[in-house]
Amino acid sequence: MHLAVISERRPGERRVALTPDVIAKLCAAGWTVAVEQGAGAAASFPDEQYLQAGATIAPTPAAALSGAQVLAKVNAPSLEEVDVLPEGIVVLSFLQPAQSVEALQAMATKAITAVSFDLLPRISRAQSMDALSSQATVSGYRAGLMAAEHLHKFFPMFMTAAGTVPPAKVLVMGVGVAGLQAIATARRLGAVVRAYDVRAAAKEEAESLGATFVNLNVHAEGTGGYARELSPEELAAQQAALMAEVAASDVVITTAAVPGRKAPVLVTTAAISQMGPGAVVVDMAADGGGNCEPTVAGETVVVNQAHVVGMSNPPSQMPTHASFLYARNVVNLLGLFTKDAAVEPDWSDEIVVATTVLREGKATTAAFAELLGVGVHPMSGGTS
Ligand code: NAI
Repeated sequence: MHLAVISERRPGERRVALTPDVIAKLCAAGWTVAVEQGAGAAASFPDEQYLQAGATIAPTPAAALSGAQVLAKVNAPSLEEVDVLPEGIVVLSFLQPAQSVEALQAMATKAITAVSFDLLPRISRAQSMDALSSQATVSGYRAGLMAAEHLHKFFPMFMTAAGTVPPAKVLVMGVGVAGLQAIATARRLGAVVRAYDVRAAAKEEAESLGATFVNLNVHAEGTGGYARELSPEELAAQQAALMAEVAASDVVITTAAVPGRKAPVLVTTAAISQMGPGAVVVDMAADGGGNCEPTVAGETVVVNQAHVVGMSNPPSQMPTHASFLYARNVVNLLGLFTKDAAVEPDWSDEIVVATTVLREGKATTAAFAELLGVGVHPMSGGTS
């Protein structure tokens, strides 16, 4: 079986889909792996390490992909990349189907099986494959550090001969995987942390990490452990209720998301305007539209006395360990798509079914068929 890894061409992307240690294990298991020259360089994995692991280094994506049955990527392939994909290859990456319609349509014409990490069910058995969680862990950690970096104050309390410095007050909104990591990071640095979410389960999780939960009695549990979208009235009431919390904080970190929807706006410009001098807002949801009204992805904007940091592609800001974790997720998911040294997806497995957008070029659900304008493949098992 031959597997290809190519460079990520999304602007600013520094991650790589597979790391040398993982490739060494794949080679020991009988895979041949080709890595495009320099694919891991930005994540601090030089070509020499890939060679030592048993991979070959290919000068171009086309050369890496020649004869490959599987492509491992972080971001969805571009149209140019789809052009050089072999017919029938299995592609494992984040695809965000609604944002990759053209690429998926092009993949459909080549009978490609397209597998997307963003569709992974959040069940116990899928945890080792859960790239949403591994990358959110990195993002939350980075959000905590970024807030500390931008704040002109200490996070911890300091009792010194020159006087006592009070701890920073941090408010984390959205207590999923990333929010919990932001809480843990801010707490490790010594800040006093308050946390807010619309899911009741988040209270205990936030408290277990030392945060105080802000209870607004808004409950918005959706399906699969996710939050549902709030109605405009609920959202406006939430924004108003959070005003005083925001104004009293030195730092606000927002990570709220609802799958398939634009990020909810939790913090208004008016609320940020009430924050004190030097206050910092770190919006981790910037790429999804932002949780704060004035957020601009990839930029820091000043609102009255506060700096609003719009984080873009946060896991890419710590590419070594983001790639280290992602590579393990890829290999664990790959195991469900191979059998007896051959690419043979287990179509009876709910994880395989849930993550596959295209099966040999056909949509796996009526919704994907409609989105992409392609035929549907029955998912009842067997190969076509
Ligand atoms: P996410 O990235 O979809 O959302 C982040 C957070 O934003 C969530 O906690 C959500 O409740 C919150 N949020 C959404 N709208 C909000 C609003 N208007 N105001 C305040 N907060 C809002 O969430 P993530 O991190 O992907 O986790 C989703 C679920 O999956 C959680 O229940 C988590 O515990 C669960 N999970 C389960 C795993 C497993 O059992 N294998 C692994 C990882 C996560």
